[in-house]
Parts: sequence; C-alpha cells; structure tokens
Amino acid sequence: MMTTLKFRNNDEMPILGLGTFRSEPNEVYNAVLSAIKIGYRHIDCAAAYGNEKEVGNAIAEAIKQDLVTREDLWVTSKLWNSSHGEENVVPALNQTLEDLQLDYLDLYLVHWPVALKKGTEMPEKASDFIPLSEVPLTNTWKGMEAALEQGLAKHIGVSNFNENQLKAIMATAAHQPEMNQVEMHPFLQQEALKSFCVQNDILLTAYAPLGSLGDENTTLRLLENDTIINIADSRSMSPAQVALAYTMQRGIAVIPKSINEARLLQNLETLNHTLTEEDIALLRDLDKGHRFIDGKFWEVENGPYTADSIWNA
Ligand code: A2P
Repeated sequence: MMTTLKFRNNDEMPILGLGTFRSEPNEVYNAVLSAIKIGYRHIDCAAAYGNEKEVGNAIAEAIKQDLVTREDLWVTSKLWNSSHGEENVVPALNQTLEDLQLDYLDLYLVHWPVALKKGTEMPEKASDFIPLSEVPLTNTWKGMEAALEQGLAKHIGVSNFNENQLKAIMATAAHQPEMNQVEMHPFLQQEALKSFCVQNDILLTAYAPLGSLGDENTTLRLLENDTIINIADSRSMSPAQVALAYTMQRGIAVIPKSINEARLLQNLETLNHTLTEEDIALLRDLDKGHRFIDGKFWEVENGPYTADSIWNA
C-alpha cells in the first residue's frame, strides 16, 4: 500500500491522517496526542470545528515530549466561509496558526465554495450569505495565494469544490489549487471528479471515509454493507479497514476521525493491508452516489444555494 501522496514540488503528505470534525474539544486533545504516539503524522483540522486550540495543545505537547518535530507532521486546516474575500484570508489563517501554535501550515484549504457574512458560523437566513457575485471564489483564491507567498501555508487547495468551481479559480490562478478535499467512500466514489482532478494534477482527500458514522440521522451504514463485511472477513480486516484501503488504493488520502485509541490504531494499521483486484472490483460496484454530508445546511428560504446547486452548479 502506498503511504504518501506527492505534491508538485515532491513534498509528501501521509495518505492516512486523523480527522478532527465532531471531536469535542475535551476529547480531541487525547485523540491527537495518542494518534501521534502510535504513528499518525497527518492531522486534518478546520477553524470551523471549534477545537483548534486543543489540537494545538496536543501538537505542542507531542513536540515537547520529543515524539515528533514540527517537520515530521503534516497539518492541514481550512478557511471558514465567513472569511472569504482576499483581505480576510491571511487574518483568518493567522488566527488558526495562533490556535494551533504553529508558524506555518502544510496545507490550507477553502472549506466550502460558500461565502457567509463576517461572524456567521452557520446560516439561518438568506441575509447571512454573501452572494458569490460580490465575493467571487477567484477573489478569495487571491488571499490563499498571498498566504502561500508569505510562507504561512506550504500548499493551498479547496474543499467541497465541484469541477466548475475548480475551473473558475484555475482560470485566473497564479498558483493552482493542489488539493480538493471532498466526501468519498465506497458509496460515493466520484469517478468523474476524480478524473478531472487527476488530469489537472489536483490531489484528493476523502472526508467521511467511513461513511460518517458520527451522523445519527442516517440509517444507511457503510460498515454494515455485506460486500464490505465479506471482504473484511476473508482478509482478516475490519470493515473500516476495507473502506479505508479501497479509497487509498484509488490514490486518495483518507482522514478517518476517531477519539478511541483502539480504533485509531485499527485505522492506521490499514496501511499494512492490500486489497486484491477481485476485492476492488466488488467494491467498485457499491457506488451509489450517496452523500452523507448532503449540503442541506446551506439551504435557507430565499437563500442563494440549494443542496443540489451546491454540488452541481
Ligand atoms: P469514534 O471516534 O468513537 O471512534 P468518518 O471519519 O467517516 O466521519 O467516521 C467517523 C466515525 O466513525 C466516528 O463516529 C468514529 O467514532 C467512528 N470510527 C472511527 N474509526 C472506526 C473504526 N475503525 N470502526 C468503527 N467505527 C469507527
């Protein structure tokens, strides 16, 4: 199994990282410190997760205990929607760096192709949004490029962008996006988006690679799928390892979230397994275009987005 993804300048990102979405501040400190202890070197963060201070404390402690150096780690974070606009990017990134107690990020991503008014965490009404006609994605991208040029982020990219949105920023970019982080797992394989990204030298990271088990509203459970369970049984793997291995063998990074030590280790140990061509063919057939993170939270009355337009506009 390949263990890293290579960027254009040959920097290598560990293909398996720790997700921190929905990790409560009081839980995430131990999760990050345990993860680093057992060998994780890639931590995926975001200002919007509300826990970057605790993640930062854990990273600082790991460095203090000589478990790792800063250079050993790959740290990603994301610009929240309320800081779109060229002039807002570096200040938002500086806050993230302060919270994480770092002087640079390895990768900084535009979290969503959605702009919200300053101070808005999640929108409740149409006036909480800023129309993209007022703050185009190309304008926000200029702020991302400034962050790169100032050395605050070694690489820049996006998250939740579709092909058209990528094309829009690529058309005027001085520095091309190098990563698109999107939901991906055997039920949502996004083959067309993947081809576009591969053709344009854009790497992919899969969020919710286990099918967003943390989502209590869903009854469709990826890890209870018979095909996944059968492959897991025949290869002495867990269903989670089968899901993660499949996505990584497609050349895509995965960032499973866990706050449990045994599951942290189990997920990392996926790197010791390889699925066969036969397994892969069976898993390929599971694609049903199913989004667990469906984007409905961007739909408000008379607002600029619908759950459909978010993905397809
Ligand atoms: P926990 O933190 O208690 O381990 P995703 O990354 O797809 O959003 O999934 C995260 C969810 O999956 C969390 O609820 C996490 O719970 C759970 N989880 C993480 N690793 C495993 C695993 N190996 N097996 C089963 N559930 C897991």
